[in-house]
Amino acid sequence: MNEWLQCVTCAKRFAIDEIRYTCDCGGLLSVERVAPSILPATFDQRRSSRKTIDQSGVWRFREAVLNVDEASIVTHPEGSTRLYERDGIYFKHEGENPTGSFKDRGMTVAVTQAKRLGARAIACASTGNTSASLAAYAAQSGLRAIVFVPSGKISAGKLAQTLAYGATCLQVRGDFDAAMRLVREACDRLGIYLVNSINPFRIEGQKTIVWELLQDLEWNAPDWIVVPAGNLGNTSAFGKALVEARRAGWIDRMPRLAAIQASGANPFFRSFGEHFATRHRVTAETVASAIRIGDPVSYDKAVAAIRATNGIVGEVTDDELMAAKREIDRMGVGCEPASATTLAGVRKLGLTGRIVCVLTGHVLKDTDAAMKNVAADQIKEIDPAIAAVEAAL
Ligand code: F0G
Repeated sequence: MNEWLQCVTCAKRFAIDEIRYTCDCGGLLSVERVAPSILPATFDQRRSSRKTIDQSGVWRFREAVLNVDEASIVTHPEGSTRLYERDGIYFKHEGENPTGSFKDRGMTVAVTQAKRLGARAIACASTGNTSASLAAYAAQSGLRAIVFVPSGKISAGKLAQTLAYGATCLQVRGDFDAAMRLVREACDRLGIYLVNSINPFRIEGQKTIVWELLQDLEWNAPDWIVVPAGNLGNTSAFGKALVEARRAGWIDRMPRLAAIQASGANPFFRSFGEHFATRHRVTAETVASAIRIGDPVSYDKAVAAIRATNGIVGEVTDDELMAAKREIDRMGVGCEPASATTLAGVRKLGLTGRIVCVLTGHVLKDTDAAMKNVAADQIKEIDPAIAAVEAAL
């Protein structure tokens, strides 16, 4: 017996697979084991000798991200997220980043660059995730954080998170696109460093999502990489990452990008349908507040990304993306609504082969949306009596 349950009061032992929670004496049980052969001290030492920048899934690739003195890097660290395989599809979970979204990958680079440039304040327009990430990295590096959000249109959790890290929040009476126009003007006029994905350093960091997932797959390129598309920074970054990986010989064939929009916020999808002859702008409305964007700033780069990868652009309805979210949540993986456009897109477009869906945000980012997906018989209020439990179950 090298693992067992042990009473913390009388030290009596029970088999590890016995279904019990307390000892006969009423004492609490603890899992105990024969000391593992690797001494904890040795183990810790090996871990802590690794540099923080090597733990970062962004700065591991630093030669191809930003040529910068190591000491000046502002890193949480971030990245090094997991790749899950569920029902034959891979999910790269960028919600596992420090602030719960992929934005940290770009923010570490943009904030490092902001410090190099001597900026004192940084700003962005945001549907909530960029602002939370900006606020966290600004707090870490001593920069003033100013965020512009569409008033009343971002999730409560994202707003709370942004404020908790100490940012000044300007709630713009208008949509994201209005906030985006305003922050660009404000940064020009007031000398604030802009860290939306229009900032090229953000893109350099976000490339590592693709490199890391390729590395997770031992550099065997998948057939499809599926990404939610809003302001189009990530689509752009993925295209650049794939072109560079191919050029460097890290992969021997090009995966295809599938960028998926919500049908109520689908300007890129509309343009794709016309072979990008026209750039569309729409008034955006979707339950997926992260991608409620009608005039994406990185349009031109994203067009190049789709072309370079023989990619496609799809759209899914709110019902379809919420159904896909329910599937992802019920796998025990979980994500926010915008991220679920990926699986919804896979289904709708009938994609086949080896597929990686990039989940961009954590399930807790939007609890209002999560509660909308709860089945009626899943949650009940009861009296504290065993009869009530029996009746409810
Ligand atoms: N998924 C999530 C969870 C997002 O927060 C965003 C964008 C996207 C997908 C779309 O990525 O803009 O690069 O095409 N969120 C931005 C923000 C707009 O302000 O947090 P994109």
